[in-house]
Amino acid sequence: MCGIIGYIGERPACEVIVKGLRRLEYRGYDSAGIVTGDLKGLHIRKGAGRIDELVKRVDLLSMPGNRGIGHTRWATHGVPNDINAHPHSDCTGKIALVHNGIIENYEPIRRELLEKGHNFRSDTDTEVIAHLIEEELKTAGDFETALRRALTKLKGSFALGIIYADEPDRLYFVRNESPLVLGIGEGENFAASDVPAFLEYTNRVIFLDDGEYAVITKDSWEVKNLKTGERVEKGIQTIEWSLEMAEKSGYPHFMLKEIYEQPKAIKDAIYGNLELIPKVAREIAGYEKMYFVAMGTSYHAALVGKYLFQRLTKRVPVVEEASEFRYEFEDLVDDKTLVIAITQSGETADTLAAMKLAKSKDAKVLAIVNVVGSMATRIADITLYTHAGPEIGVAATKTYTTQLVILTLLAIEIARILKTAEKEFLDLLEKELNNVPDIVSSILELNEGIRELAENLKEKRDVFYIGRGIGVPTALEGALKLKEISYIHAEGLSAGELKHGPLALLEEGVPLVAVAPPGKTLNKLIGNIEEAKARGARTIVVGSSEELKRVADTLIAMPPVEELLSPIPYVIPLQLIAYHLAVLRGNDPDKPRNLAKSVTVE
Ligand code: AGP
Repeated sequence: MCGIIGYIGERPACEVIVKGLRRLEYRGYDSAGIVTGDLKGLHIRKGAGRIDELVKRVDLLSMPGNRGIGHTRWATHGVPNDINAHPHSDCTGKIALVHNGIIENYEPIRRELLEKGHNFRSDTDTEVIAHLIEEELKTAGDFETALRRALTKLKGSFALGIIYADEPDRLYFVRNESPLVLGIGEGENFAASDVPAFLEYTNRVIFLDDGEYAVITKDSWEVKNLKTGERVEKGIQTIEWSLEMAEKSGYPHFMLKEIYEQPKAIKDAIYGNLELIPKVAREIAGYEKMYFVAMGTSYHAALVGKYLFQRLTKRVPVVEEASEFRYEFEDLVDDKTLVIAITQSGETADTLAAMKLAKSKDAKVLAIVNVVGSMATRIADITLYTHAGPEIGVAATKTYTTQLVILTLLAIEIARILKTAEKEFLDLLEKELNNVPDIVSSILELNEGIRELAENLKEKRDVFYIGRGIGVPTALEGALKLKEISYIHAEGLSAGELKHGPLALLEEGVPLVAVAPPGKTLNKLIGNIEEAKARGARTIVVGSSEELKRVADTLIAMPPVEELLSPIPYVIPLQLIAYHLAVLRGNDPDKPRNLAKSVTVE
């Protein structure tokens, strides 16, 4: 999990690359480095630490040359240190490259190259690629052929940026199961793991597919097939995201900005899908066998989807973590199966593998994705975009609520087709969904009160989140948000489970957050909150019913909302609790330790 940015043109390459790296830091931030090229050869500066530290420590902004490649790393092979930081080069120092992904067969290749006398400096899997190209160059007539020969020997996932000292007019970029996109400028060209890295300069992009590589000069670009070397026709797409959308707009953190963007994002998700949903619903309504696959927060969206589909369409989708599905469900998928994959990035390795498995069994695959042109969209038969815009904070917020919008719209539309719910009720739900952006805006006004609540929780060691019915996934999501950015231990569970074990953990002062929307099990949930309170738990209740005042030490008062729509507004206070606790505890909520935005390796 790393970020790559490449530039070739007239500007000082290091300046463009440092800016790009800052925008890619969400992909990894344990070390970074840059290679630039000029007529004297290649220049590499790199080290452990964040970009801004390295700008000072190794003077990244004074590197010569108008072409170069940068990398921000999230370690897989080899600890994060100065030597393992990318770029890596061959023995001659003429080839340098950066890599995002994992080379599965690097050990045997490394052994073979060591026997042939190559001199390795790092512990990374990446370095073998530079030496392998060097080795192939001894017999291939030209660099490009050597590159192709070397890369077809690799197994695993890789996005690569490669520079060769003896070809001062070009850069190479390769994609295989890790994201890579070209940015097409005037007299300059770019390549990166993600569009915001170069969006300041151009919004004209070309998404590479697996098994393709690009050769870019300042005035030209060419995409070719890695195996055959043949040219591949690619279209240029225009990205509508403005750079401002990809930056913080005055908020202290991307996460807070993204939490506040939810009213707009939810609106965009509704209106951006209005025309498509009925068509897609017609295409999938006939499938009785349905699997929802996803990971992390997207998995929680899938769980909400399950409740929506059960209630409205009377069909029971199986919800499975993609990492389990890919190995355990092989024999259960066939051409009568519908697989709905939910993924913000569209690049999560396990989710992509689950989708590929489904495709190989001729199942119909629908993807709900945020990142335009990502791999999931290319595997899927049908894609519905969440239209949430770029999400930079590692913790998913607006992409979660927009996933819920799409699942709600789909369930309503399928229920209409199957006539499994009262028309009046479906109309009402749809109408009320249009009010959800305003409801979310009003909840965001509770921010200051939630920050004060967080002040009182900041020393706590454990927090429990409970819910019932469609509130359960919200409880799970609240707990995930808290652990991932505040590093406080949190558990989310269905309230019915409390008595079956976890109640033993409740003692004086332990916070218990109850997700309590209106619904048929609200009274049961109130009973569970009372039980916890009787054991000394400090109860924080999110809900709108008057009765909750009796059991809540703190009540986060919600505006009234239909139960089936409640997962969207009810997660907002939980996102804010997690955000404020992270900040109060001195953590950077945008870059939680040990985590990266897209998990592109298994
Ligand atoms: C959410 O806050 C997490 N960062 C993480 O659980 C994320 O939802 C998960 O990795 C799945 O990512 P995806 O939606 O891009 O597939």
